[in-house]
Amino acid sequence: MEIEDKIIDESRQGEAINIESGDKNGKKLFLESYGCQMNFSDSEIVASILTEIGYSTTQSLDQADLILLNTCAIREKAEQTVRNRLKHFNQLKKIKPSLTIGVLGCMAERLKDKFLEEEHLVDLVVGPDAYRDLPNLLKETDDGRSAVNVILSKDETYADLNPVRLGGNGVTAFVSITRGCDNMCTFCVVPFTRGRERSRDPHSIVQESIELYNNGYREITLLGQNVDSYLWYGGGLKKDFKKATEMQKATAIHFAQLLEMVANAVPKMRIRFSTSNPQDMSREVLHTMAKHKNICKYIHLPVQSGSTSVLNRMNRQHTREEYLQLIDDIREIMPECALSHDMIAGFCGETEAEHQETLSLMEYVKYDFGYMFAYSERPGTPAEKKMADDVLDDVKKRRLREIIELQQKHSETRMNAYLGKIHEVLIEGNSKKSDKEWMGRNTQNAVVVFPKTGTEKPGDFVQVKVNACTSATLIGEKI
Ligand code: SAH
Ligand code: F3S
Repeated sequence: MEIEDKIIDESRQGEAINIESGDKNGKKLFLESYGCQMNFSDSEIVASILTEIGYSTTQSLDQADLILLNTCAIREKAEQTVRNRLKHFNQLKKIKPSLTIGVLGCMAERLKDKFLEEEHLVDLVVGPDAYRDLPNLLKETDDGRSAVNVILSKDETYADLNPVRLGGNGVTAFVSITRGCDNMCTFCVVPFTRGRERSRDPHSIVQESIELYNNGYREITLLGQNVDSYLWYGGGLKKDFKKATEMQKATAIHFAQLLEMVANAVPKMRIRFSTSNPQDMSREVLHTMAKHKNICKYIHLPVQSGSTSVLNRMNRQHTREEYLQLIDDIREIMPECALSHDMIAGFCGETEAEHQETLSLMEYVKYDFGYMFAYSERPGTPAEKKMADDVLDDVKKRRLREIIELQQKHSETRMNAYLGKIHEVLIEGNSKKSDKEWMGRNTQNAVVVFPKTGTEKPGDFVQVKVNACTSATLIGEKI
């Protein structure tokens, strides 16, 4: 069996999407996104900015005047995918020399103008904080020059922009609440590509949530690299909070309060959030989740390793024991809460004993779901600078396989526990296999499939009795 360095979940480690919307000035944009949910959410901001200057979007490459790739730099493989895609666009440009090709997102930020040297067909390189500059940059490319803006910002949150909802189901949407990350996990490129952490004005978050509800959406996911670290004190970087006035400090809004505000503002909307960082997840957040029925009982709580010594080398700010204490607290406060994780196999210096600690932590938690990766060294990160990527490839792959197999066993156990029970399901659309069946999720984020009865539609909450399951899907009938 060939090992993929991840386990399946389309909503997160998304496949490329492209989009269709609007009419306007004759110029057509083809926008393709890779990587995390934040990138997909950012693409909606980019579409909004370009729609305002008259672009319409197309799903057909042949029609495109402008191709934008919103890229991911998290692992080498993600970058390779983008490089291969660019090769394909090279052919298109030979046929249509007026075509403009731009690279957005984390790879743009990481490589900056080096991208133009390495990939000759690229005209435009724009980092995640510079999308407002796209109209100006496009003018430069219209005049035949290449254009680059990779300036990271202290306060950009795109709070005032109304994202154009792309390629979605009209039921679930992302709402971005923080940008950047201050954590400096030694393996991670994100702090370098997305800059320092800053939070978005809570009132604009609430307003966007209400608008989404009024437009028929029934589930939002509040997004950030580390949502539990959310802190609004009037704008600016999180690290500058210590310089805030006493008044700003006294009236600052933390994540638990933001959750409460959103839960109250849209009581019939389901609320999810991602990603939680164990070091910042407060007990207050757990109590807020327990208190509000519309906050989903699911936490994505990456741990990366079950070994305190590895966590230390990764510069994660908690131990194995502290993480397990948090898990115990979650189980106590919300016994029905589902949990998922991110795990890295074969980080620098990882011994067999440390790997076994990862497996034993997984045995303790029995996660519902996991995203599992082989360590991929990223240029410029502290790990790349200071540590040897010394776990042999075969060993990394074997450890990853053991982690994936254990997770599959746990996912099956979790799915089996849902059998015979009634679940509230939010219908998202047709099931992948058949248009005679609906697909939705329960509060724990498990996918549920059931036959249509003719009286329900996407966006409805229905009660479904689950009779069977596979390792990733619950199968039931509406009651
Ligand atoms: N806080 C972020 C984490 C971003 S990266 C979030 O919102 O999801 C997502 C996951 O990719 C990480 O949790 C980690 O498990 C994995 N990852 C990051 N850098 C990696 C690397 N260099 N090699 C392998 N996996 C990595
Ligand atoms: Fe990366 Fe760690 Fe932040 S994984 S995104 S540096 S929390």
